[in-house]
Amino acid sequence: MKVLVTGGLGFIGSHTTHMLLKRGYKVLILDNLSNSRLETLDGINSSCENKAQFVEGDILDRRLLDQIFTSHDVQGVIHFAALKSVKESMEKPERYHLNNVEGTERLLGKCIQHGVERFVFSSSAAIYGNSRSPVSEDAEIGEILNPYGGSKIKCEQILRNAYSLHGKPDITILRYFNVAGAHPEGILGEEMRTDDGNLMSHIIRIATGEIEKLFIYGGDYDTPDGTGIRDYIHVMDVARGHIHALEKQKRGVHIYNLGSGKGTSVLQILQSFEKVNGRRIAYEIVERREGDIGVSFADPSKAMEELGWWAELDIRDIVRDSWDYQWRLIQDMCK
Ligand SMILES: NC(=O)c1ccc[n+]([C@@H]2O[C@H](COP(=O)([O-])OP(=O)(O)OC[C@H]3O[C@@H](n4cnc5c(N)ncnc54)[C@H](O)[C@@H]3O)[C@@H](O)[C@H]2O)c1
Repeated sequence: MKVLVTGGLGFIGSHTTHMLLKRGYKVLILDNLSNSRLETLDGINSSCENKAQFVEGDILDRRLLDQIFTSHDVQGVIHFAALKSVKESMEKPERYHLNNVEGTERLLGKCIQHGVERFVFSSSAAIYGNSRSPVSEDAEIGEILNPYGGSKIKCEQILRNAYSLHGKPDITILRYFNVAGAHPEGILGEEMRTDDGNLMSHIIRIATGEIEKLFIYGGDYDTPDGTGIRDYIHVMDVARGHIHALEKQKRGVHIYNLGSGKGTSVLQILQSFEKVNGRRIAYEIVERREGDIGVSFADPSKAMEELGWWAELDIRDIVRDSWDYQWRLIQDMCK
């Protein structure tokens, strides 16, 4: 089967593409490099007999999408391409609407026009807002806390509406919780950005000495140690979730949580990082941030029952692989 992976040079897309290639799929990546680097293609294609093809371009470009679908026999699309910074989405909501919502609508329109059979969409636990954990897929969609979460809710609506109107393609919506980690062989990992609000990238930056300490927002949540609890899931587990979704896709629109089902507090992550990697992480607990919720973790039982998928890796694998990848990058830069 030939699969078009949008955003395939990004964090989750690159790991998923590598896994697809390893399993014998043909893959075409479409990415505009707005949050990725071309060198990632070497990591993806390393140790794979068949190589991914790459097109640099935008999901908003209808003419390019027509060219892709007429010149490649694409049967499945995995749609990762999106902007993902909650903070930036509050500053530039229109940019998030255009890229994430309009982009998904245009891509889906072309999939329908060109007879693509399967469509897998990257959604987010952000859409649950402050629903009570563990959250299952039938939980009410929460209050929209930011334009990023809002863009995912709108995309899900567009996908459902399109299916009820056209009866195709079959759609799987995967709602990921907090994705972290890196490829265990050190060939792929996450780009660390200064402003992405991502806990693991802050911890790594402290471990490398780039920043002094971690500010933990809120030490008075109703949790055992007072810090916020999230469901961290290894990127290799998430990548595998897409293979299950593609292979077990049923008629219609189906939604699954990809989470471990376990909550881990900020302090627990920090302690685990220190223990596994032997690096000290300085921190200071400060006031809660507006819009943050105390506890969020998944009920992953639907994915277990229907897709035969569950998280195999745990928080120790996440902190080890994240650090190994960044440490390797630093050593390569020093050579
Ligand atoms: N990382 C997480 O914890 C997490 C959690 C929930 C949901 N998600 C969703 O998963 C998807 C992938 O996330 P990620 O962490 O790999 O992000 P990422 O930023 O690393 O990857 C996204 C990729 O899409 C590309 N891209 C963005 N807009 C594009 C466009 N208009 N046309 C073509 N390419 C475009 C970027 O260059 C990048 O390579 C996103 O949809 C994100 O919202 C991520």
